[in-house]
This record gives sequence, structure tokens and C-alpha cells, in this order.
Amino acid sequence: GTRPDNAEIRRRIRTIPDFPKPGIMFRDITTLLLDAEGLRLTIQGMAAQVDGPVDLVAGIEARGFLFGAALAMELGTGVLLIRKDGKLPGATIAEDYALEYGTDRIAIHADACAPGARVLLVDDLIATGGTARAAVRLLRKAGAVVTQAAFVVDLPELGGADALRGDGIHVSTLVA
Ligand code: PRP
Ligand code: ADE
Repeated sequence: GTRPDNAEIRRRIRTIPDFPKPGIMFRDITTLLLDAEGLRLTIQGMAAQVDGPVDLVAGIEARGFLFGAALAMELGTGVLLIRKDGKLPGATIAEDYALEYGTDRIAIHADACAPGARVLLVDDLIATGGTARAAVRLLRKAGAVVTQAAFVVDLPELGGADALRGDGIHVSTLVA
């Protein structure tokens, strides 16, 4: 969809060069979270782009938990935790995904969502899309209906949002 003028959100996000390694321009959302107006505008902006009914919001560890939980409150839903593998106490299902070097694994509780539940995926940022695409596979494996995902920041040159759209997901972002 169209992206409203989110200058008030953009100016509250800091870019820190060469973190965590040389050449990476790290988008630091801690300064957005510290600012009450910034946080409010962000959650309201994400809520305004939600497309149709949502039964559950799924947040990706770690920064996705913050935006996911706040957006769930705004939408009146619960929140499902997508964690790095090995952190959840109950029976889990997991999904591997590629990192720049090697792989990582995310997991959810196997009984976290009812079959057919309409789940909105939330994270702070989409870059290559590796994390979000694995999250969609995982939620779909659990029986969820995943048709939309919301992010605060898009790094469009890395192609993640377009790849996710190719998986049949309506992708909304607030700033690029
Ligand atoms: C960051 C970010 C996304 C992911 C995006 O998380 O919060 O989850 O990277 O990158 P991608 O689109 O290329 O997959 P990170 O792995 O740094 O974990 P953290 O939130 O726990 O710091
Ligand atoms: N995750 C992946 N790339 C990132 C970036 N440039 N800034 C913050 N988080 C990220």
C-alpha cells in the first residue's frame, strides 16, 4: 500500500555505521522506543495499515516482541512469541533459515495457535527477509493463515519485503 509521511517516526530512528561489523548501517530503534510520541505514532501507524481481521499477532524475538505486543494491545488480540530455538519450555516446532554465514533456527510452541487462526506477523525491521520468511513457513506449518506482515523499517535494497510479497504476504512498512 501507500506509505504515509512518516518523518516523525524516521527522525527518531538512529543509524549507527559499522555495527555489528564494518559496512553495516545499523538502524537503531531504541531511540524510537524511548520517545513516548514516537512509540505512539509507530503503533498507530502499524495499526492503520492492518488489512482485515486478525486473530493473533506474532512477534519475532527480540525487537519484534515490543512492537508486536503493543500492536496486539491496539488491535485487541493476544501475542504469539517466535523465539530463537531452545528458549521455549513446551513442545515446539522449529524452522531453519539462512544467515549471511551459516544458519539459525526459530521456534514456536506447537499448540500456540488454533488451526485457521489469522495471524499478523510483526518485526521491527526487514532486511533480506530470511527471518520473516522462515517465520511465515513456521506459522503456516502450525496451521495459521498468514496473509500480512508489518515492519517499522524496510531496507528495500536487500529485497526482503519483495520476497515476502512473493510468498503471498501483504507487507506494510513505515519507513525505508
Ligand atoms: C534483526 C531484525 C530482524 C532481522 C532482519 O534481528 O530484528 O528480526 O534481523 O534481518 P533479515 O530480514 O535479513 O532476516 P536480529 O537477528 O539482529 O535479532 P535481535 O532482534 O534478537 O537482535
Ligand atoms: N537487521 C538486519 N539488518 C539490520 C540493520 N541494518 N539494522 C538493524 N537491524 C538489522
